[in-house]
Amino acid sequence: MTGSNLKQRKQASPSSPISEPRKEGKISAKNGRNPRSSWWKIVARIVVTLAGLNICLSYLITETALWGYQNKWTNWRNYVPRQQRAFTQQELAKYDGSNPELPLLLAVEGDVYDVTDGRGFYGPGSAYNIFVGRDASRAFGTNCLSRKDHLTHDTRGLTQGELAGIKGWHSFFDNHQRYVKVGTVELDPIDPAAPIPPPCDDAAPKPRAK
Ligand code: HEM
Repeated sequence: MTGSNLKQRKQASPSSPISEPRKEGKISAKNGRNPRSSWWKIVARIVVTLAGLNICLSYLITETALWGYQNKWTNWRNYVPRQQRAFTQQELAKYDGSNPELPLLLAVEGDVYDVTDGRGFYGPGSAYNIFVGRDASRAFGTNCLSRKDHLTHDTRGLTQGELAGIKGWHSFFDNHQRYVKVGTVELDPIDPAAPIPPPCDDAAPKPRAK
């Protein structure tokens, strides 16, 4: 509504509510703007400017936009919807690094992650190459990296603490900034009659689990 319109209405009815505007949200007769909305615009501008300055400063000091904080949502790639694939265990086994053309994939509790960005950890000859191409949830719980029978999804007989350890690693891969979930693996059912893998004497003392 323009200023001249207001004037006309005031003259026609001096006792109209417009002649005695409410305290809040009143309309300035000068420019026809609601001063309350201008106030919010100023606040919004200050917030956006401060956020921008914060990001610039963080980038200058830490070379990251959020003072070094990283999780999956600080990587733009994780906002791009990705088609999820259902692997069989045999298919997943091809992604163990033996074929350099293929990405490195590992599974934990049935979820498959692309860990190619961690080639230094998972590539052929690296310490954690045992984890790729399979679901070795048990080893994530027992910390037993030296025994093949722990490189399995069979979690029978594990303690609550060991099961929590697996969950911790699962969450580590799920929230990792550079690893992405690419699907699931259909795990062969465990034969209840099969022997439970015995505990591992030389389990690593303290995993780097988050
Ligand atoms: C003596 C015991 C251990 C030591 C000293 C050790 C040390 C390390 C170190 C130094 C890193 C690299 C950290 C980094 O640069 O971000 C690492 C990574 C890792 N560790 Fe261990 N570790 C041990 C045991 C274990 C065990 C028992 C597990 C599995 C249950 C494990 C799983 C991993 C994995 C999956 C990574 C790679 C993390 C990634 O992808 O960023 N570690 N470890």
